[in-house]
Order: sequence, then structure tokens, then C-alpha cells
Amino acid sequence: MLKRFWLWLGRLLGKLVLFLAVVGLGGWGIAELYYAWKFSGPVSAQEQIPPGEAAMTRGIIEDAIRVVEQHKDQTRVLRDAHAKAHGCVKAEVTVLPELNGELRQGVFSEPGKTWQALMRLSNGNAYPQFDRVRDARGMAIKLFDVPGAKLMNSPAVAGEQDFVMFNHPSFFVSDVAEYQSNFKAQADGKKVLAFFPSLDPRTWQIRHLTIALKTLAPAPNSPVATTYDSVAPFKFGPHNIKYRVVPAPERCPAYTLPAVNTDMPNFLHDALYQQLSLDRMPACFELQVQRQNPDHYMPLEDTSIQWSEAISPFETVATIKVPAQDFDSTEQTIACDNQSFNPWHALPEHRPLGGINRLRKAVYEAVSAYRHERNAQ
Ligand code: HEM
Repeated sequence: MLKRFWLWLGRLLGKLVLFLAVVGLGGWGIAELYYAWKFSGPVSAQEQIPPGEAAMTRGIIEDAIRVVEQHKDQTRVLRDAHAKAHGCVKAEVTVLPELNGELRQGVFSEPGKTWQALMRLSNGNAYPQFDRVRDARGMAIKLFDVPGAKLMNSPAVAGEQDFVMFNHPSFFVSDVAEYQSNFKAQADGKKVLAFFPSLDPRTWQIRHLTIALKTLAPAPNSPVATTYDSVAPFKFGPHNIKYRVVPAPERCPAYTLPAVNTDMPNFLHDALYQQLSLDRMPACFELQVQRQNPDHYMPLEDTSIQWSEAISPFETVATIKVPAQDFDSTEQTIACDNQSFNPWHALPEHRPLGGINRLRKAVYEAVSAYRHERNAQ
């Protein structure tokens, strides 16, 4: 009797496992087919601005200021995002001497030219936390003494060309409307629920939740040991591109970072300090661009889509060297915190494109102005 019961239970469980496997595989297959159909080209090579974007942007600025106030330090108001820096380091950005003529655009017009720059390396969170906590890692680069009229005509940033990235190739929302609802929910303390705005399954953003979970990744061993993506698109003279910065250790003298103690709260700063300041060894990168091919699904207005490298591979336009240096005195750390990086600190040849970038223009400016004003008091 008992034996027959166990056999029956075994068969039942076997069928259940088979059923779940078939449903899972079927669901995965249907999702793949659906996305292959939904995400197929061609796409527009021009920006398409939806109505109501400016009003949504104003609402997002209010929420951003609320986040800044919620997370303020006892002594200082911090950035709304990427609040914790591992360091601001001097860097040299050199245009590839053999750069292909089509890619000689904007600050990359003159092959072999070296720009002096500042690079801020950061964690993505709105509040400084232990580096071992899963998070996005940011890299912001500012080139100095760049001649020519800029997109933002404040005299304070007149000579600056910025590049602002984090270490994941896609963003957890597509556009400004979705950013507004998601960010508001997150500011109200809802994390996962932000991706399920109503009971209607058509509003559920499971793919975007997956991107958010992948973006919040374990830390690399060092801030100079990961790839940083622009995520959003930009002009590059006549081309539409995304850009990224990849480590290029082969362009620097050989160096192995000693083992890092990842229990230390600021081990990413410590790794940078070990390499640049103690071991006096430089770090090297390549700056690369990926051109849009609008015959394929490489949209300008959806930052959740990673452009296919099989269709359009990245092309190196410059090398970046971070020389050995001392970068973490108290004065340097405060000066680093007081910097403002903004993708709109740019020449028209490098104009930011797409809704998320249009949103960033107003938000970065407002948050930066707000924290500078509050910190000056
Ligand atoms: C394309 C996707 C994005 C990337 C790659 C990105 C990356 C970054 C990075 C690296 C920083 C730190 C810059 C620094 O070191 O000072 C930063 C700061 C900031 N980000 Fe983003 N971000 C993105 C999208 C957004 C969006 C959609 C918003 C909000 C609308 C936003 C709001 C901010 C704000 C307010 C700051 C601080 C600005 C300041 O106070 O100076 N970011 N972002």
C-alpha cells in the first residue's frame, strides 16, 4: 500500500517537474519570438519628442531634490545619484593617431591630440554605502580647454566636454514617462514594485526589472577594471553613436593589483590608491564609439535597448591614460565633490540624443545648482 503511494507520488512529482519545464521553456521561447518581432528595424535616425515631456521633467526634478534632501550627509548635500566617489583623478585623452577620417569629429578631429582631463569614479547609489553592496559603478570624464561654443552657455563650463557613463550597456527604463513613474515609486521606497505600476499585466516591466537587477552588480576589483557605457545615444558629427570606455591594460606597463580586501567599506578607493599612489602604476583605457545603423533596431528613444555589436561593432577613437598620481588629499576630495559632470557640457558635434538625455539636461543642472547652493551656506 505504502509502496504504491510512493510510486504514485513520484510519478506525480515527475509530471509536475515536466509540466513546469515545458511551461518555462515555452514562455521563454514565446518571449524571445515576441521581442524579436517587437525589436526589429528599421528605426528613426532623428529624435522624436513625445508631448508632455517638459512637464514630466519638472516633476522629476522635484522628486530628485526630495531624494537629495532625504539622503543628505550631516555636513553636505550629496549628488542625487553617484553620491560616493572613489576618487577624482587626472587623465590624458589622446585621439588615435591613425583615426579613420569619418570618425574625426568634435574633440576627436585632430589625430594624436592629447586633452587634459579629470575622471570621477563612483558608485551609483544616492547614498554612500559599502562598496561590496551590489550597485552600478560610474565614470565621468571632463576634458578641459576645449575651444568652441558649447550646448550650455554658462561661462563656468565654457571649456568643458564631458562624457558620463556607468558599467552596464542598457538602462532600466525606456523613456521619460516610464522614468517618472518608476523614480517616483522608488522615491516612495518601492523597489521591485516600481516595475509593476498597476494590476494590469500589460503595464508590468519584467524585462526592465531584469536590467535593473543586472545593473546592480557586484563590484569589480578596481574602478579601473570594468567597462563603462554611455547607455544613451549622442551625435558624433553626422553620425548617431553610443560610446564606451574599456580597460586596455595592454597599453600600459604590466601590473597586477595585489589582492583587495572586499570587506573594507571603501575598497574601490583603496584599489585605486594602491595602483596610482602607492605602486605608482598608470591605468589605461580605450574610448570607443558604436555607430547607429537605422536599418536595424538601434533606437534613439529607448535606452533599455542595447545596440547589437554584431551589426555595429565598437571602433576605438582615443586612448585614455590615468598616470600615477596622488589624488586623495582632503582638498582634492572636496574639490571632486564640488565638480559637476553633465552630458550637456558638450560641443554641438557631441550633442546628447533621445528622451533620457533630454531629461538629464534639466535634472543634472538643477540638482548640481541645488547642492552647490546648499553646500555654500
Ligand atoms: C543614460 C543613463 C545614465 C548614465 C550613464 C548616468 C550616469 C551618471 C554618472 C556617472 C553620474 C556621476 C557624475 C559625477 O561623477 O559627478 C551621474 C550623476 C547624476 N545623474 Fe545620471 N546617469 C544616467 C541617467 C540619469 C537619469 C535618467 C537621471 C535623472 C533624470 C540622472 C540623474 C543624475 C543626477 C541628478 C546626477 C548628479 C548630478 C550632480 O549633482 O552633479 N541620471 N549620472
